[in-house]
Amino acid sequence: MGKQQQTLIEQGFPFDQLSAIAEQESWRKEVNRPASYIHKWWARRLGSVFRGLIIGGFETPDADFFEKYYGNTSYQGKVVFDPFMGSGTTVHEAIKLGAKAIGSDINPVAAAIVRAAADTYTRDEVVQAFKQIESNCRDQIQKYYSTYYQGEKVDVLYYFWTKEVVCDDCSTKIPLTRSSVFSKNAYASKKPEAKSLCPHCGHINSILYNDSDTECEKCRKHYNPQNGNVYGIDYVCPVCGKRERVVDYMRRKGTVPTERMYAKMVIDHHGKKHYVDIEDSDLQLYAEAQVALAEYEAYIPSDEIHAGINTNQILNYQYTHWREMFNSRQLLAFGILSKEIASISDIRLRRLFAVLMSGTLEFNNMFCSFKGEGTGAVRPLFYNHILKNELMPLEANPWGCKASSGSFSTLFETRILRMLEYKDHPFELKAVPGGKSEKVYLDKSRDAAAVVTSEELWCESNAIVLCKDSAHTTIPDESVDLVVTDPPFFDNVNYSELADFFYVWLKKFDIGVGDDNSDSTRVSGEVQDNVPDRFASKLCDVFKECHRVLSPSGLLIFTYHHSRAEGWVSVYDAICGAGFSISQVVPIKAEMAVSVAIMAANEPINYDLVFICRKRPEYEQTKLPVGNDEYYREGLKRLEESGLKVSRGDKMIFKYGLSLKQLSDSGVQAITKDDIERIAQALEPDV
Ligand SMILES: C[S@@+](CC[C@H](N)C(=O)[O-])C[C@H]1O[C@@H](n2cnc3c(N)ncnc32)[C@H](O)[C@@H]1O
Ligand SMILES: [Zn+2]
Ligand SMILES: [Zn+2]
Repeated sequence: MGKQQQTLIEQGFPFDQLSAIAEQESWRKEVNRPASYIHKWWARRLGSVFRGLIIGGFETPDADFFEKYYGNTSYQGKVVFDPFMGSGTTVHEAIKLGAKAIGSDINPVAAAIVRAAADTYTRDEVVQAFKQIESNCRDQIQKYYSTYYQGEKVDVLYYFWTKEVVCDDCSTKIPLTRSSVFSKNAYASKKPEAKSLCPHCGHINSILYNDSDTECEKCRKHYNPQNGNVYGIDYVCPVCGKRERVVDYMRRKGTVPTERMYAKMVIDHHGKKHYVDIEDSDLQLYAEAQVALAEYEAYIPSDEIHAGINTNQILNYQYTHWREMFNSRQLLAFGILSKEIASISDIRLRRLFAVLMSGTLEFNNMFCSFKGEGTGAVRPLFYNHILKNELMPLEANPWGCKASSGSFSTLFETRILRMLEYKDHPFELKAVPGGKSEKVYLDKSRDAAAVVTSEELWCESNAIVLCKDSAHTTIPDESVDLVVTDPPFFDNVNYSELADFFYVWLKKFDIGVGDDNSDSTRVSGEVQDNVPDRFASKLCDVFKECHRVLSPSGLLIFTYHHSRAEGWVSVYDAICGAGFSISQVVPIKAEMAVSVAIMAANEPINYDLVFICRKRPEYEQTKLPVGNDEYYREGLKRLEESGLKVSRGDKMIFKYGLSLKQLSDSGVQAITKDDIERIAQALEPDV
């Protein structure tokens, strides 16, 4: 077979300018790409990058990339496949570009999210369905989040809780507080007013955030607000001084910690917030919620938490069932919502609201905490991509009231309504001088399709969203033009362990998410392994399937980064083992501008590397027009000139990628870490 025509992504791809656009998107991803933000998923990619990759994969090097990018470009008749769909970044971009999109994810939670977001709705039907839920659920839930303040009935925005242990030596009840200051402003040095809890009588005192001596307004005793009963991972009894690791206490007792409500925040009719002590009526109301829960038990998950890398973090604290991550009142609220949503007969709408409710769970459980004033108050469960025990949980108002965040009604507005608006009027960002951006609307484009959930219906629809191990699909041979994807990065995120938190609720809605018999989304085909060979072989199985379904001239395009050479050997093994060779590599702006995971890494990584692969037998090797080192220097220069920060970690990614390309060019099948490092080192010996 003769030499195939190169594509724009292989030659002359404007990765520097696209990275600058992606950077703009990354500042407000949920506003700029709302359709992939209707529910939590981990390590989401930037839509602008994937739009660019699809365009680059379809166009030839002489095309005007930005004319296509901002124009009403349509690839009708073309098929784009993403075997690691996640939150559906590729699926949405392919639909917007008029192609037939096939997305597949082994995890049913991901499949539910993408099916809900890609489908077609009228705004009216969605708003009607919401109103129905509102009229049947709001008052029922709000009843348990209300109190009297200065004689008026008001909504409670938050209840503040602390976990407690009882000293074995002197029987003192010890609240597990790190300090008695439980609320301060996120910018405390500018707004120093704070609240602290009197350790003697439990009264809430107004203090300055850094006070070290306070007289309680109620009991008149003095205390140091900075002191708490938890030091590092130990608690210390304030009476007898007994010290022990919190986790050891839980293990000895064999039960989850007890929890105590110690304060609440109410909002008055003028929209002003007040911190108020817990009164008997609050305890009474909570007790009523515990009783009312019995009626909704059928909607509450009873599934166990299975051992795993992330789940062990909470199993150690004796949480054994997912429902224990919520208090009874939160379970009641979700029971009320679940019952109502389960009764929606149209599966599209049922799925949409089930996904909305599932997303609300993340902000309304006893692993959430208070971020403080002056910022989006609730720190959600997955803030850190892990399951972290929380000693001072924040119980937010699940239905929501004025000033709520993360509630069912506020997320309806910020997630669902915003998504509907975007689906009808999608836009792209254009970088303008001053580090800003403006929106360019794509008049003829829509981010909506009739979603089908099985490849049997393959001919009729332009969005097929599968819940499958992508190593085994029934997509016909050679029927796909482009695979654009983002595989799991080695052992980076334990998707299924984390997704189970949502899954146990979602599976009850009869929306094609697993079945009641399975209590976990963990399955053996998931590409996730901390053993390099096993990771490589599972990734290779999916790439083999991509090879089978791709047309002879089709490209496999995927993003990747890893901080260790092992991660790159694995990816090379998978590419070669599946019958591909690397035709080009380009750096591109990664996931987030500010990321907890990235900030914590030794070498911050702001870029992904994009691999462009072709089927090996059909592909007559085209060498780079310039040598590897020239391509490397030129690439770095372009990124630096576009004003984006390029760290040592980013340079390493680029060099590792180029090493793989060089090895692939020379036809080597099996490589070692040393091969990669030798070539990478030669590219820039002094780094
Ligand atoms: C890095 S994420 C993709 C994220 C996605 N690009 C986004 O923007 O949300 C990788 C995904 O691959 C999925 N996955 C892992 N193994 C799989 C397999 N064998 N078949 C299909 N999906 C798989 C995981 O569940 C996860 O959602
Ligand atoms: Zn006091
Ligand atoms: Zn004691």
